[in-house]
Amino acid sequence: MKIVKGLTALSALFLATSVYAAAPNASMNTMLDGLKKEAGAAAFSAEEGRKLYNARRIHSQKKEERSCTTCHTANPGTPGKTTAGKVIEPISPVANQQRFTDPKKVEKWFKRNCEWVLERECTAKEKGDFITYMMSLK
Ligand code: HEC
Repeated sequence: MKIVKGLTALSALFLATSVYAAAPNASMNTMLDGLKKEAGAAAFSAEEGRKLYNARRIHSQKKEERSCTTCHTANPGTPGKTTAGKVIEPISPVANQQRFTDPKKVEKWFKRNCEWVLERECTAKEKGDFITYMMSLK
């Protein structure tokens, strides 16, 4: 019974926290731990993640400005659009609870989108900062 009570208290805490930011989830915490080791970083920075999200750069071949915000918009809590005009559900885990729960999906899209915007894969530090920023959104 004690355990059940403890769990109830814990989920109540998560629910309370989720009013302010996305509820922590085990798979993202594990992913962040892995990225921390890979990056040799003591901690990740939501502020650096925010900068990465908003950074604009000119593509070397296409000569057009590209950014994470090109598709996900300047406000992560609103729906975005692919270059083909297809709607993308909000990337913020507050607006969309499916977000940042599946490490495989997160890795897949980091790879594609970092290459599209930065013409390279994101580093472990960049991924950690980005996830930390997303999990800090309110
Ligand atoms: C060319 C359009 C486009 C750009 C630019 C873009 N994304 Fe995305 N992103 C998508 C699409 C499409 C999806 C997946 C569709 C969906 O899940 O709704 C996605 C999903 C993701 C996801 C998966 C999140 C989850 O848990 O579901 C991550 C992580 C992500 N993007 C990171 C980035 C980062 C980092 C950048 C900037 C470096 C970026 N994206 C720029 C189109 C884009």
